[in-house]
Amino acid sequence: MATDLADKPAVQESSHKCANSENESAKDENETVQTGETETLSKRQKKRLLKNFASKLCKALIVPCFMKRQKRKERKQQRKLERQAQAEDGAEWTAKKRLRRSPEPSSLRLVIDCSFDNLMLLKDVKKLHKQIQRCYAENRRTLHPVQFYLTSHGGQLKQVMDEINKGWVNWKDVHFRPDAFHEILKEEDLVYLTSDSPHVLQELDEAKAYVIGGLVDHNHHKGITFDRAQELGIAHAQLPLGSFVKMNSRKVLAVNHVFEIILAFLEKRDWQDAFFTVLAQRKGAVPVGQENKLGEGNDEEDSDEDSDTEHLISEKSTDSKDHLGSKEEEHKPDSSEQNAA
Ligand SMILES: C[S@@+](CC[C@H](N)C(=O)[O-])C[C@H]1O[C@@H](n2cnc3c(N)ncnc32)[C@H](O)[C@@H]1O
Repeated sequence: MATDLADKPAVQESSHKCANSENESAKDENETVQTGETETLSKRQKKRLLKNFASKLCKALIVPCFMKRQKRKERKQQRKLERQAQAEDGAEWTAKKRLRRSPEPSSLRLVIDCSFDNLMLLKDVKKLHKQIQRCYAENRRTLHPVQFYLTSHGGQLKQVMDEINKGWVNWKDVHFRPDAFHEILKEEDLVYLTSDSPHVLQELDEAKAYVIGGLVDHNHHKGITFDRAQELGIAHAQLPLGSFVKMNSRKVLAVNHVFEIILAFLEKRDWQDAFFTVLAQRKGAVPVGQENKLGEGNDEEDSDEDSDTEHLISEKSTDSKDHLGSKEEEHKPDSSEQNAA
């Protein structure tokens, strides 16, 4: 109690000071509030204190909270905008891709003659299967897909396909036929592609059916497709490889290379371009003047294929049109060649 009595005047004095300094009315002074044991605050002071406290609390807790929420909102909005932009880009990209990729099928028929099945060892049949898979894949993504035929389809090849890749039954736009090609296609439309033909292909006639021997034989059966074409009395021709590519030895290509060169020619209408598009990627054929780099481009797939294109080097001239011209002079086509070309 002694402390109470001793302290009270001091508190009242401070209360007065506070009131005076803020020019408060006497009414306010009378309406003091006892706070705890030592202080008495006017209502206004109390209000101010509370306000002060609330504002500090607000700054310390509510404002950061609000700011955080605001920032979160902004980030969300930003992400939404980014997603929208990406979706638009994606749609544009897909549309462009579709535009670029929308295929215009060629009427040219490209046949793989699988009638040599019994001449191959199983390991070579498996290689042929891989090459056929490649032909299919390339034909699916090219700009001008051909009418793809697999004739005399049966034997070991069909067995391998059934075992390794049952999906072949769902392949789109491939005519699988157990019959021989000459039984289902018109004789006058047929051109057997064979490296042993004396006729050199100049152009592709999209009304024709070009036949590729479905064979991986490491050239053990040299001339077999040429003989077949002659027996059947149908046109035959070799690709104009010699005009554009230097060969150290044979110019026998693998089935898929021949197939892809035809696809590339349909797109580029230029043999040299077609040869280098297909062969340079796989066989390390190099542009003119870089022959010393020959062979650097060989890849693993080559080991599965059946050709001598490792020996390819580029022809000295770069002008494919000149080559076509000079080849035409060099090689005067006879009637069957006219038929072939
Ligand atoms: C690996 S080769 C088969 C070689 C086989 N000894 C032969 O006589 O045809 C696969 C097929 O590709 C085609 N081919 C390969 N090189 C060719 C070329 N330079 N010109 C035309 N066709 C070719 C032929 O139809 C050939 O039957």
